[in-house]
Amino acid sequence: MFKNLCNEEKIYKNLYNGEWVESSTNKLIEVKSPVDGQLIGKIQAVSKEEVDKAIANTKEAGKAWAKTPMYERTKILNKVAELLDARCEEIADILVAEIGKDKRSSVSEVKRTADYIRFTANLGESLEGESLSGDRFPGGSKKKLCLVERVPLGTVLAIAPFNYPVNLAASKIAPALIGGNTVLLKPPSQGAISGLYLAAVFNEAGLPKGVLNTITGKGSEIGDYVVTHPGIDFINFTGSSDVGQHITEISSKTPLMLELGGKDAAIVLEDADLENVAEDIVLGAYSYSGQRCTAVKRILATNEVADKLVPMLKEKIEALKVGNPNEDVTIVPLIDDKSADFVQGLIDDAMEKGATLVTGNKREKNLIYPTLFDNVTVDMRIAWEEPFGPVLPIIRVKDVDEAIDIANRSEYGLQSSVFTKDINKAFYIAKQLEVGVVQINNKPERGPDHFPFLGVKASGMGTQGIGYSIEAMTRHKVIVMNLDI
Ligand code: G3P
Repeated sequence: MFKNLCNEEKIYKNLYNGEWVESSTNKLIEVKSPVDGQLIGKIQAVSKEEVDKAIANTKEAGKAWAKTPMYERTKILNKVAELLDARCEEIADILVAEIGKDKRSSVSEVKRTADYIRFTANLGESLEGESLSGDRFPGGSKKKLCLVERVPLGTVLAIAPFNYPVNLAASKIAPALIGGNTVLLKPPSQGAISGLYLAAVFNEAGLPKGVLNTITGKGSEIGDYVVTHPGIDFINFTGSSDVGQHITEISSKTPLMLELGGKDAAIVLEDADLENVAEDIVLGAYSYSGQRCTAVKRILATNEVADKLVPMLKEKIEALKVGNPNEDVTIVPLIDDKSADFVQGLIDDAMEKGATLVTGNKREKNLIYPTLFDNVTVDMRIAWEEPFGPVLPIIRVKDVDEAIDIANRSEYGLQSSVFTKDINKAFYIAKQLEVGVVQINNKPERGPDHFPFLGVKASGMGTQGIGYSIEAMTRHKVIVMNLDI
């Protein structure tokens, strides 16, 4: 346990100017485990005045941090990575209890985060600007020398989601810090304790006071206030498309990076290795019960392919282990009852409209068993809506062009997969898909984390990926020297 992060009654505090502080509101939010409803701890509901204070403090700290040599920034980040590795089990156990992620995936989230931060530090060491000579342009001269460097934007607001409260907080914080920014972290209420542990690691690694502050509280109470705060210079948000859209509308001139929802399609062609495809799709659709923006959320295939694929999928889905995330399972209880009700609503709608239930449609409170529907038609909600749960529809198409058409009719545009051995067909499809990333012969996924990751349409704005994130959270600064030579 990190010193002062919480008291004996498990009341967690916020990081402010290097210290763990309680809110003067005396308002607390209970965090209960999605696994068994047990109270894990309480977090502070901060006031708007405390948001002001936290931002003002990052501004003050930012003056020195922007001037801190890169080798010192990278040293601190490397220390964070080292501490995360050392505290991996402890933080993974918090993830299991707080967001119900299975233990293996929780450990992997923490280790991936350590690797992400290390990679960011290494990249920081080799970040350079450039110089341009004026004589390249007609009429110019060598007397003009242009120096281009990247400078910080100021205070970055990092808003992380419940499904990766450590990794998707760190993937905002680390590139922002390397770029010389300070950060205000707003973790999700369910996932806040995991996020505060991460902040504690940064603090313990020796990050100067105020370079990273945290605020916890209900989005409905402080969300709009912080997002429209004049002290915020960049908003880096991961969450639902609805909230992302709302932020776009209210944030006016503040630059944004948004990672939102998806309805990633897997288009499977006749010549694909169906046994491998089935394995990949099941992993892609059902890991962490489908609570990932890059989960496979629909299969588009012809009758010929679907007839062969369905029994393979059924066998693998029914072999998935279901239950307590402390054990070696894939299917875990969803984050809350409301999410489970929403997923059940999609299942009920598909059943009423005549989809073929291949397996599933079983529920115990917020635990939804893995469900597969065949013969889903475009009038069904599950054809278009993102379940963020373990439900996968198969939409049968007449040919590749219909698959592309249905894929593109989605409001979302995160990733899509194309499974085929024919590289020409793969490119024919990939070029037409309106998404940020197309995976050929693999499930959708964000990593490796230095690859560019982006969504179009309702799936996001801006490009993430370690180098790309540093670039997004810095700007050019140009100094032109007019020499007398
Ligand atoms: O849902 C969050 C998104 O970033 C998914 O990441 O690594 O599960 O593909 P990943």
